[in-house]
Amino acid sequence: MKKAFIKSYGCQMNVYDSGRMADVVAEQGYAETGSADDADLVILNTCHIRERAAEKVYSELGRLRELKAERAEAGQETTIVVAGCVAQAEGREIIRRAPAVDVVVGPGSYHRLPDLVREAQAARKGVDAEFDQFEKFATLPRPSASRIRSRGVSAFVTVQEGCDKFCSFCVVPYTRGAELSRPASAILDEARALLEAGVREITVIGQNVNAYHGDGPDGRVWSLARLVRTLAEMPGLARIRYTTSHPRDMADDLIAAHAELPALMPYLHLPVQAGADRVLKAMNRRHTADEYRRLIERIRSSRPDIALSSDFIVGFPGETDGEFEDTLRLAAEIGFAASFSFKYSPRPGTPAADNTDQVPEAVKDERLQRLQAQLEADRQAFNGGTVGRVLYVLIEKPGRHPGQLNGKTPYLQQVQVTGAAAQPGDVVSVRITGTAPNSLFAEVAESAGNAAPLVAAA
Ligand code: 5AD
Ligand code: SF4
Repeated sequence: MKKAFIKSYGCQMNVYDSGRMADVVAEQGYAETGSADDADLVILNTCHIRERAAEKVYSELGRLRELKAERAEAGQETTIVVAGCVAQAEGREIIRRAPAVDVVVGPGSYHRLPDLVREAQAARKGVDAEFDQFEKFATLPRPSASRIRSRGVSAFVTVQEGCDKFCSFCVVPYTRGAELSRPASAILDEARALLEAGVREITVIGQNVNAYHGDGPDGRVWSLARLVRTLAEMPGLARIRYTTSHPRDMADDLIAAHAELPALMPYLHLPVQAGADRVLKAMNRRHTADEYRRLIERIRSSRPDIALSSDFIVGFPGETDGEFEDTLRLAAEIGFAASFSFKYSPRPGTPAADNTDQVPEAVKDERLQRLQAQLEADRQAFNGGTVGRVLYVLIEKPGRHPGQLNGKTPYLQQVQVTGAAAQPGDVVSVRITGTAPNSLFAEVAESAGNAAPLVAAA
């Protein structure tokens, strides 16, 4: 049997796409393997969000070129595919820079992978695909129940792709295209198949997920809240999450859903990027720092225990020391449970990249260090605050040691649970006993009597 190795870089959209690419090539008889060494087909599903992410692809391609040559000497053919956002942004340029690449396919066109691979193998030259956003969803194969099960009890479903926000630092509107929502019925069908195969948690994903406005089966346009409400009624679904949201699209019905739906987990990734209004304006974020603060207040009054996470960029062109302090202050006020923070990276074709006021690398380094130290302290404080509490945990897999199980709290914290006679997919009530740098420890609770009913223990 032929083997395929798929390596995913970047965001959750890519993780989802990699799974779907695995489904596509499985239909062509390729079994997935965990290493490039024995792969007949290697797919790099790439990320273009920051320069470092894009450069990683070229160093990986350097290694793959050698591997391809070694395998060729042994009479084995290797087909190399570059997929994802670098493929979209650079197109044929990739084949020029890395001639070992056989196929370049962007995130809108990977349903055509089998044809493209065949074409490249027959022509013995690199081929690239046009971008036809969204057509793929109509033609992608349905994964079998056993393929779904092999990926675990928590699954992603893409509901929306692309972005119309045009933040001045961001390549997404160019690589993923305009904002487009999948029809609700297609999403519900996909969710049903996942649940029938044993999935218990669905994370609805999109670059700008809360801008979702898909056609509903009733002929009306559905908001994300409407979609989430419908998903929440599906039998077998214990947990729903959604990511990534834009502050401007946190509609009232979505905020209300957090108060009303026990299956909607009390966790929200809501990037703020920066804390100074001048910087936010230059970033074209379309909200001020105070508007963000007020939004968080409204979300917290709907769901008081909600955990928040954010993305931050330091060293945006022109950012002063004082403006950076504003970011530190905003982050401290909100108290994020988790965060991702980055040095600004100029991306070709984006407005901010042309700014002549670039911040020196050493200044960016220092700011990032300070911000990350503070964000890490906030994360540890949040984790520490859950010690002693009784929480529901969705069991995902066996733990590191015998008798331990791995799962997640409603707040997306990873937990090592002892004392549970449970299976992946079960929701168990546990008492948090301690923290490690990247996870919590917990014991099965004697009684869930004083547990806040965070999920229906369906
Ligand atoms: N430089 C640094 N970080 C960026 N991000 C997006 N574009 C850039 C860039 N040019 C960050 C933002 C976004 C996250 C996915 O990546 O914080 O929310
Ligand atoms: Fe990029 Fe801004 Fe769109 Fe997010 S909202 S994908 S940061 S342009």
